[in-house]
Parts: sequence; C-alpha cells; structure tokens
Amino acid sequence: MDQIHVEGGVRLEGEVQVSGSKNATLPLMAAALLGEGPTLLRNVPDLADVTTLLQLLRTMGADAERVPGAERHVLRIHAGPDVVPEAPYDLVRRMRASVLVLGPLLARFGRARVSLPGGCAIGARPIDQHLKGFRALGAAISLEGGYVEARADRLRGATVRFDKVTVTGTENVLMAAVLAEGTTVLENAAREPEVEDLARALTAMGARIQGAGSDLITVEGVTRLHGVEHTVIADRIESGTLLVAAAITGGDVLVKGAVAAHLDAVVGKLREAGCTVVATPDGLRCKGPPQLHPVDVQTTEHPGFPTDMQAQLMALLSVADGTSVMSENIFENRFMHVAELRRMGADIRVEGHTAVVKGVHTLSGAPVMATDLRASASLILAGLRASGVTRVARVYHLDRGYEGLERKLQTLGARATRVK
Ligand code: EPU
Repeated sequence: MDQIHVEGGVRLEGEVQVSGSKNATLPLMAAALLGEGPTLLRNVPDLADVTTLLQLLRTMGADAERVPGAERHVLRIHAGPDVVPEAPYDLVRRMRASVLVLGPLLARFGRARVSLPGGCAIGARPIDQHLKGFRALGAAISLEGGYVEARADRLRGATVRFDKVTVTGTENVLMAAVLAEGTTVLENAAREPEVEDLARALTAMGARIQGAGSDLITVEGVTRLHGVEHTVIADRIESGTLLVAAAITGGDVLVKGAVAAHLDAVVGKLREAGCTVVATPDGLRCKGPPQLHPVDVQTTEHPGFPTDMQAQLMALLSVADGTSVMSENIFENRFMHVAELRRMGADIRVEGHTAVVKGVHTLSGAPVMATDLRASASLILAGLRASGVTRVARVYHLDRGYEGLERKLQTLGARATRVK
C-alpha cells in the first residue's frame, strides 16, 4: 500500500491550481441519471470516489466514462430508459455517497433498490432524512435485507421540513422533486455551495428551482429533463487545505481557482490565527505569520466553519502560540486524527465533542496512520511543519478526495513523495 513521506521544514511558496469539487461532482453524476440525453461534466477531479460512482452507474446499465484525452477531468454520462435502478452493497459500502442515486432513480424510473450505507469512521451517518423526504413526496419505502426499496408511479410535490440540516439529504430529495408533479418546498435545506451547483445544473437540464443556497428551496416539478454540459465548481475543502499548507509553513501561496465566497469562515479563522489572506482575480493568496495565534472554532453547517476543515485547522493550531478550543458539532466521531497528531508531539486533549489544543513549539516527524480522508490531509500538513520525516500510511483515504495532493505540494517546494 502506498505511503506519503513528508520531510518537514520547507516554507511553501508559489502558485497551485485547485481541482474541481468532489462533493459537487458526486451529486452531479447522480443527477445525470435524470436526463434523457447525455450529460458532460467538466472540471471533474480525478479521484477514487469518482471511479467508484462511474462503476456504479455502469453496473446499472448507464453509459458512464471519462472522456478520452481530457486528462480524466471530463465525464460523459447517459442513462437510457433500460437502466436497472439498483445499487448493490458491494459498491455502496465503498462509498456512502452512492446513496445519491436513490432520488434520481425513483423520480425517473419509478423504482429504486439501493443498499443502505453503513456507519463510517466519522459517525453513524443515518439516511432517515433522505427517506423522510421521499415518503413526503409519496414514495413507498421499505427496508429489506439491508436494502432500501423505494417505489412511486409519479412523485407528488410536498413540503419537506428536514429535522436536521443534511447536505446529501437535501441533494437527494431535490433530485427527486424536480420530476414530481406540482410544487415541492424544502425547509431547513442545506446551504452548501455544492447544493447550489447541483441546482444550477438541474436548472440547465430543464428543472425549475428557486432558493438553492438558502435554507428554503422551492421546486416546480417538470415531466422530463434533458442532458447538460456543466463545469463543476472548485473544491473549497482542497482550497482550504492548501491555504493551511501555506499558513503552517509560514509560506506564501496563491491557490488559483479558490472561490473566496465559499470560504468565508475558513479565511476568517486563518486571519484570526495571524495569516494574511487576500482575494486576487485568480484565487486566494495566503501568507503565514512568523507565529500563529490560537483560535476557537465551532464546526457548523455552511456558511459556518466546515467539519471537513476541522482536522486540517487542528494541525495548524497545534503549533500556535497558546490554547485553542475546537468543537465538532456535525459528526460524533471526527477526532481520530488527534491520537496521530499526538504521536508527532501535539498537545491535544479531547473532552466529548471538544478538543483543547495547546500549541507546542515543534512537532516531530513520525510514522502515522490516516483514518479518514480529512484526517490524512491533516497529518500531511503537520508533516510539512514537523522536524524530520513523517510517514503517512493508508493513503487510499487521501486518494478518495484529493487529486495528487503530494504533487501539488511539491510544486510549492514541499518535500513530499509517494512511496509505493
Ligand atoms: N444526518 C442524519 N440523518 C440523515 C442525514 C444526516 O441524522 O438522514 C446527520 C449525520 O449523521 C451528520 C449530520 O446529519 O451528523 C450532517 O450530515 P450530512 O447529511 O450533511 O452529511 P453528508 O451529506 O453525508 C456531506 C459531505 C461530507 C461532509 C458533510 C457535512 C458529500 C458527498 N459528503 O456528507 O463530506 O462532511 O456533508 O458537511 O457531500 C468529506 O468530503 O470528507 C465528507 C465527509
């Protein structure tokens, strides 16, 4: 299995291009099932999760491929009328976002059979809110043998109030509502930029949607949708990770393509920590200070501070000049990087959903193990700052969500290499 070895101590400098967003791409790929013609997605990141979803779409009988010659960044997806609307356990267990095919399959084919995703390393992650939405739209739902069976001849518009803000739940129910008869209102909807990007693509496919990006989304159902050509937004979490790479090394990096409007909370915390972050016409530029300040952080739904940046910011705060308090409010078990950061010399205490991070002067390189996607990124960031060599194992977690992170860091001067 691959490892990434990072030799710390280099101040990162230069420019780096951010890739397309993973969490925007996955729902967009599922949305392609709704179109009667082919969909072309551009600026798609080359990631293991994208490969898994392509495989799932093909298993169901759709044409789904990376367009040759486009450096694996363009997808063409076409689902004909003979698609078999079933998502098997073997693929869903590899990537829980596979559950995003449920809404489109139900809406277009009147039936879906999708394996229920299990819990994962960061929490239990139920999908009760997705199912609540489908039921409100008139679907009959049953759970059998580990599968969700959903049926509806034609979904009917309804008001759905989510009890909890859920990103993929909002996306899933939105994709079902676009082909429902009449008006659907989604209350307490997720406001993440990825939901907005999905709504933009669906609208270009012929859907009638208002309010995406706010917590109240209104959909007027239509009877059919066509395919679309759509360019995926930049990955705000990869952008944030690269900004932290600049900050933790006291460096000066321009993250090209980073969208400032998607990163307000992250940029705010980096500035509180003493970084200079400016929006330029090309992206966001971050300059790390000689000494970082401690910062208190609460993860919340967008536009609050994202849970997907908590581990990376913790690496940064582990070398700040004082004590930071970080609360994780989205997932119940998202502090697994703490034990690994401690092995590198960080002083972090966890009490329930709060981590108290006492800054230390130096971290020291160590063999560490990635436990999930964002945890792996946090360990690489810590390695950039540590003395000696940090060997990060289980990098397959990283490859699910970052396209060539070590190569991008190399272009900024980092000594980070992948070892087979
Ligand atoms: N929840 C429920 N019931 C539901 C749905 C969610 O109780 O039916 C709970 C979850 O257990 C969690 C909270 O609600 O405690 C929020 O979960 P949400 O549904 O918003 O998460 P998700 O849609 O499964 C997406 C991203 C995650 C990101 C979260 C939060 C995708 C494919 N995944 O997950 O991304 O952490 O939103 O922003 O969009 C990552 O990229 O590393 C990642 C984990």
